[in-house]
Amino acid sequence: MKDFELSPYAPILMESTRAIGYSLETAIADVIDNSITAMASIIKINFFPIDREYVSILDNGIGMNFFQINCAMQYGSQSPNDSRMSNDLGRFGLGLKTASLSQCRVLTVISKQQNNIESRQWDLDYIAQTGKWSLKILDEQEIMKFSGIQELMEMETGTLVVWQNLDRMKLGETNFELAMGRKMDEVKRHLSLVYHRYLSGEAEIRKIKIYFNEVAIKPMDPFLENKSLRAMDDENIILYGNKVVVRPYILPHISRLTSDEIEMLGGREGLRKRQGFYVYRNKRLLVWGTWFRMMRQGELSKLVRIQVDIPNALDDLWTLDIKKSSAVPPAVVRDNLGIIIEKMAEKSKRTWTYRGKREIDDSICHIWNRFKMRNGGVLYEINREYPLIEELSKQYPDIRRKMDILFKQIEKNLPLNTLYLDLVNDEKIDNDTQDGAKEIIAVLEEILCYSDEKDKQELLEALMISEPFCSYADEINKAVARGDLL
Ligand SMILES: Nc1ncnc2c1ncn2[C@@H]1O[C@H](COP(=O)(O)OP(=O)(O)OP(=O)(O)O)[C@@H](O)[C@H]1O
Ligand SMILES: [Mg+2]
Repeated sequence: MKDFELSPYAPILMESTRAIGYSLETAIADVIDNSITAMASIIKINFFPIDREYVSILDNGIGMNFFQINCAMQYGSQSPNDSRMSNDLGRFGLGLKTASLSQCRVLTVISKQQNNIESRQWDLDYIAQTGKWSLKILDEQEIMKFSGIQELMEMETGTLVVWQNLDRMKLGETNFELAMGRKMDEVKRHLSLVYHRYLSGEAEIRKIKIYFNEVAIKPMDPFLENKSLRAMDDENIILYGNKVVVRPYILPHISRLTSDEIEMLGGREGLRKRQGFYVYRNKRLLVWGTWFRMMRQGELSKLVRIQVDIPNALDDLWTLDIKKSSAVPPAVVRDNLGIIIEKMAEKSKRTWTYRGKREIDDSICHIWNRFKMRNGGVLYEINREYPLIEELSKQYPDIRRKMDILFKQIEKNLPLNTLYLDLVNDEKIDNDTQDGAKEIIAVLEEILCYSDEKDKQELLEALMISEPFCSYADEINKAVARGDLL
């Protein structure tokens, strides 16, 4: 066997990794993760949208020396397989580079440790010229031109990250300044949610302050802890010697919330949409407002939010993505979370006061609901929350009323007498034949092809916990993996 070294071609690899799919807020959060890992207590984001526009992120963390900053700028500076300190928010050895260069063409890092200042710069246009991994070292004069440098100089240790030539942020914007103002509002909201436990200085974690253009960002607590109900004691799931802590909350009813609180919880619309699990890795929020296809987002669980704390030692199991914006729980955790969901559903089970109690109250979404009436008797009713029905009424709001009239007529005109006769005569009723997996997948494909690209995933998740699809989870997951459905 022979081998030779075949390195990636820098200009192309660097341009390609820009398309990993960061949004402005996830990119800024990836840089802030580094500051938090570097023990910073103050992080200042400054954004200047006019003329020679830039974004800068300054922290008072431990800073970097000559070797550390070289390592920091290298793509793949640390293996995802290395074990990390338990407070490290990093994993891939990429974030600083990929997140920054997904938004800009020039990334400068200036770091201070006591009297030593180091600076490095990746400039994509310069790399296109040299055709090599040419990392620039700036001289003192160049360093002193950066906004924020004075503040760094006054710190004992710290790091300043600057993004210039914001080509990706400008893409498709006619009025950049205005568009940026809006995007930056989104960034602020994102940071105040993602780091809310650091910002509020929860016990056992170092409190940090994040400033955005000199204004302190306030924590946005998605559980409204001082007003919500702790639905049950914490559940600990032990995995390979590591603890995953699960803490369910039930939010107060909307009538008991102030308008600020409603806003904090995601607005009236967000209240329902943001129910579900809130997964934190080292106390930093990773994914939220999802039931991981274990249950549908329903009215019954509208007020349920479940905090799940995972340590970074379990990254492998949770299949974390590079942007750290998605994480899928491993099977063992799903099983345990399933049990917790059931307990919660039991607690928040609603009594249907106006017509009796709904009979079937499992976590599956049925097409027909059966009610036991208070005055005796039963009532079958088409479930108006069945995902397809909800999707239709969302798509065609003007026929919602007509649909309801139609459903009522179907419900009132069930051919009960003939049904009864057929059943007692042991007739084979064809409506009752179950579809096979193939037919189910074909039906799903047809349903999904009519819905908007952006709604597909959500609809599929809702259908997977609805009958009849919930009985075919394995087949559906395989079809998704093959790329047949999404
Ligand atoms: N603000 C900072 N202060 C001190 N060191 C830093 C700072 N930013 C980056 N570093 C160093 O640079 C290294 C590389 O950072 P980078 O974000 O590229 O990768 P990572 O954090 O190790 O992993 P990930 O790709 O998951 O973010 C970090 O591990 C850290 O040692
Ligand atoms: Mg990082």
